[in-house]
Amino acid sequence: MSSLKPLTGHERPGDPCVIVIFGASGDLTKRKLLPALYNLKELNLLPEHIAVVGCAVTEGTDESFREQLTRDIKEFATRPVDLAQWEEFCKRCYYTSGDFNSADTFTRLSEKIDAVRKAWEIPGGNVLFYLAITPTLFGKVVDQLGAANLTREPQGAWRRVIIEKPFGRDLDSARELNAQITKSLREDQIYRIDHYLGKETVQNIMVFRFGNSIFEPTWNRRYIEYVQITVAEELGVELRGGYYDHSGVLRDMVQNHMLSVLSLIAMEAPSSITGESVRNEKVKVLEAIRPMTPEDVIANTVRGQYGGGMIDGKEVVSYRDEPNVNPKSNTETFVSMKLKVENWRWADVPFYLRSGKRLAQRATQVVIGFRRTPLRLFGEDLQRETVKPNRLVLHIQPEEGITFDIHAKQPGPKIQVVGVPLDFNYKDFGEQNAATGYETLLYDCMIGESSLFHRYDSVDTSWQICNPILDVWGALPARDFPNYESGTWGPEASDRLVAQEGHQWHYYKPPTPHAIST
Ligand code: BG6
Repeated sequence: MSSLKPLTGHERPGDPCVIVIFGASGDLTKRKLLPALYNLKELNLLPEHIAVVGCAVTEGTDESFREQLTRDIKEFATRPVDLAQWEEFCKRCYYTSGDFNSADTFTRLSEKIDAVRKAWEIPGGNVLFYLAITPTLFGKVVDQLGAANLTREPQGAWRRVIIEKPFGRDLDSARELNAQITKSLREDQIYRIDHYLGKETVQNIMVFRFGNSIFEPTWNRRYIEYVQITVAEELGVELRGGYYDHSGVLRDMVQNHMLSVLSLIAMEAPSSITGESVRNEKVKVLEAIRPMTPEDVIANTVRGQYGGGMIDGKEVVSYRDEPNVNPKSNTETFVSMKLKVENWRWADVPFYLRSGKRLAQRATQVVIGFRRTPLRLFGEDLQRETVKPNRLVLHIQPEEGITFDIHAKQPGPKIQVVGVPLDFNYKDFGEQNAATGYETLLYDCMIGESSLFHRYDSVDTSWQICNPILDVWGALPARDFPNYESGTWGPEASDRLVAQEGHQWHYYKPPTPHAIST
């Protein structure tokens, strides 16, 4: 894993290469990839010898592509754009269009790559292909790259392919896709991206756990009573109804982002943070989550779909009334579940996962609930929210920080215990230029560092965890949808799920001097 900072002389820029973006006229390119590449340029982490080739179905020329990129960077840059730097980058951008089903498109692409390499004297034959396209085309495009000889690595050079999510829509299709792409690529050429792993605070989980000696000894079933991972969104499905209605939150968020965060929280210490060590440890955690039986699915999962309601004082429509959504849709927009990681470290500790759209607040956080002290020496009333047992909260977004609740004596003549937060806010590092989250991932791919990308075994294992749930939900369509109002925390059954073991969901306000509600 790299750490992004301006080049100091210790950090090398990415290898000289051509970056080919399939889906160059799409949303991901303009909102994330382009601003991320520009940020890398400003940080001196792009190689000196580089060119970008956009490839999409829409017709266009190099010139029209550059004009479009110039409009897009003005709108989506995360930092002020320096004109000279931008021009220097923009003139290295090229475009080629065509039908991805046609071999001719890839012959022309190959010629374009050769031409830009010559124009910018890019040594070697390194090419990074980024598949920012609809998932149904992943396999097809890799086949075509293979047939055009573009995945074959020339002597001393690399060819790498970044594949967006979702990787398959269930276990069988993920296996099929993997079998298809590994006809043309070795596993170490495949970079399955998960943008959650590019987030500062997600990467900070490892630093927090393994860079401090104080927490690791308590990071186990002896001291930890439960773990909660919440990814709550206020947004609905926006304009992605067509995609989402065939996906749902289990496929969209749990199978990839949330299980990935869970594995960082639960894994054993890796022997190194580069190479395969982290990925080896992450997959072991996933393998320790036993796939649910149909009875477990019924007892330990809750699904929901939003109805209309109020978000930020504005009325919003129900999921079934969103554009491109089936008016009788049974797709879930909310899930909560209880998982058990069955190994020595975590046996019997519930891991609660919750994610949904149109919830009360945008908040991604991990709550670690510690066990109570063996004796309540001070007569603490643990039912009071202000004196709950110690909790550690990793705030991932929108605010980034860490809160640790401890107990202290309330000032006064009597001993009265009160909970107080120890807060760390990332903002305390001072003004930082916002990043898209894709910088680290693009840079890591350019230097061949794959630890933040999903290896196929972890994708497969994540599907093995999700598939039984999809099967039961498919066989027993929900009868009560929509079952939560927009702007709430989801269906009541979700509260009952955590109450089974005497717990409750925590919503934590981000670090402020008064972070705990009374
Ligand atoms: C994407 C999902 O992977 O992650 C979206 O497809 C979701 O449905 C998004 O909204 C959330 O990402 P973030 O970074 O805003 O939490």
